Amino acid sequence: MKPDSVLYEGKAKQICRSDTPGELMMRFKDDITAFDGKKHDVLEGKGRYNAQVSSFFFEYLEGRGIETHYIRMETPTVMVVREMEMIPLEVVVRNVAAGSMVRDYPVEEGTPLDPPVIFLHYKDDSRHDPMINDEVIITLGILPPEELDILKETALAVNMHLSAYLDECGITLVDLKMEFGRSDSTIYLADEISMDSMRLWDKKTGKSLDKDLYRFDKGDVIAGYATVVGRIAPEIPGGGR
Ligand code: C5P
Repeated sequence: MKPDSVLYEGKAKQICRSDTPGELMMRFKDDITAFDGKKHDVLEGKGRYNAQVSSFFFEYLEGRGIETHYIRMETPTVMVVREMEMIPLEVVVRNVAAGSMVRDYPVEEGTPLDPPVIFLHYKDDSRHDPMINDEVIITLGILPPEELDILKETALAVNMHLSAYLDECGITLVDLKMEFGRSDSTIYLADEISMDSMRLWDKKTGKSLDKDLYRFDKGDVIAGYATVVGRIAPEIPGGGR
């Protein structure tokens, strides 16, 4: 992956060209940011942990009938993915009230949400990813109603599969953010599924094992991320080390 092949550079990932048509390379960086990039650090090993967990869960979900952009890992931090048109939405599914839901609405942190609640955001850094609803999505032509239904059903299915798996690992999936893409009229789960995009609480202690460690200086970020990798380790080469 040559530096001149970078097509897009995000806060925590680079998207690079591949020699194979229809494929892209996604490199997980050690950079970690919060609060719209106002807080920024580089934590050695973070990219590898997020890449490992993402590849593990993409393969796990593919095995359960979810279409994802994942193709294979090229190196421990570089994922080969299917090229597609990204849908500019962040789809958050919440199982337990936390984060911005507690900040913005009258609900106590830790309140179980059953059934899970979906929050949709329009992905635009310059607008700070505002909340969006079905009517606005359809009016702006971001997605037609049928595809919006598929996207929400898929997001709930992903949440169900991941919650069940993580629960077995002693981890509560509090919430997660997903992004989707489209290719040949199929909607694929894209981006990443990692400790940067999920809120994970240790079932026994209630302690954070995700990016909240970094956002709110709650403890050793890399140790938390390593704990997650270690808990799902049997299936991950080099997991937990
Ligand atoms: O901050 P908030 O409570 O809205 O976050 C909900 C979930 O979405 C969390 O798991 C958080 O890590 C994730 N998220 C994300 N990228 C964002 C905003 C939130 O991965 N830009």
